[in-house]
Amino acid sequence: MKILGTGSALPKMTLTNDMLTQYFDTSDAWISSRTGIKQRQVMSDEHLEDLAAKACQQALENAGLKASDLDFIICSNVLDEFISPNLACRVQGLINTDCPCIHVNGACAGFIFALSMAEAYLNSHMAKHILVVAAEMPSRMVDWTERGTAVLFGDGAGAVVVGEGSQLKAMRLSTKSAIDCLYQKQYINSTPFDTQEANKTSSLQMDGREVFKLAVSASMKDIKELLADCQLKQEDIKHYLLHQANTRILDSICLHLKEDKSKFHQNIQRTGNTSSASIPILLDELHREGKLQQGDYLILSAFGAGFSTGSCLLQW
Ligand code: UT7
Repeated sequence: MKILGTGSALPKMTLTNDMLTQYFDTSDAWISSRTGIKQRQVMSDEHLEDLAAKACQQALENAGLKASDLDFIICSNVLDEFISPNLACRVQGLINTDCPCIHVNGACAGFIFALSMAEAYLNSHMAKHILVVAAEMPSRMVDWTERGTAVLFGDGAGAVVVGEGSQLKAMRLSTKSAIDCLYQKQYINSTPFDTQEANKTSSLQMDGREVFKLAVSASMKDIKELLADCQLKQEDIKHYLLHQANTRILDSICLHLKEDKSKFHQNIQRTGNTSSASIPILLDELHREGKLQQGDYLILSAFGAGFSTGSCLLQW
């Protein structure tokens, strides 16, 4: 697999930490020091498919391809206005093409799971060009009276077009069922036969400290295993693009690895945690800024609900 083009889109509304103090007892000082986040972009009058389609158009343009060149669209997404048809089907309509579309919900690790599926389709010659898009609106998942989660998230979309190539050197996926630390249930219709109590929970529930610990240990394990898989050393890696969940998680991983902080790219200060969209958004920003040079080794590492992790090592 090779990444042929990247794209991203963020909602137009900027929500600063100071603005959040209108809704609950919090402060810029608390949010900045505990998370690194200064502001995030959140959806107001936009629809998620429009953001996703914008990211996809950019990725196609960047790849020098037309939507009609695509053989498959894989969309990573947790929450969407529609349960069915999935977001990928609506994005396909907006970018005006007719290839098969599927949706994957791997929570914050979803983009890497989607990339792994793209790799499998390419390897089996079922497709030549695949659009992998992650589009998320976690701002609509949290309880806006709950300061513990509402301050953490932002919305956005990131996309890549992939084709045949040898950029992907290794990939690691893992899931260890651990539901209680991070989950959200949805209301489902009741029936005359239903004997269970209706779901009372409609917003994201999180044990932040537990997730923090799981994220640090899981991502470190993935990074070490990827290096061993590729017989590379840490000094060979030029860029770490980790899921933008919390600056302290990234700093902690960097510190444990005794790595140079400048290799751990961050945009969480501006975007908040955009779930599975965070890595492709960051990738697109670095790519457009010209920070990725041919031959550079990159590690992408994501972690989240499941508890699932997805990491890969690429040579740009
Ligand atoms: O994509 C994966 C999604 N989730 C994550 O990555 C979350 C990972 N975890 C974290 O990022 C951190 O655990 C948090 C940022 C969520 C919380 O930081 P913490 O250092 O673990 O704080 P805490 O939950 O232990 O709370 C410390 C205090 C509490 O007050 P008391 O009990 O000490 O009086 C909280 O009530 O901070 C309070 N607090 C806040 N204060 C001001 C919690 N949220 C806020 C807030 N503003 N927004």
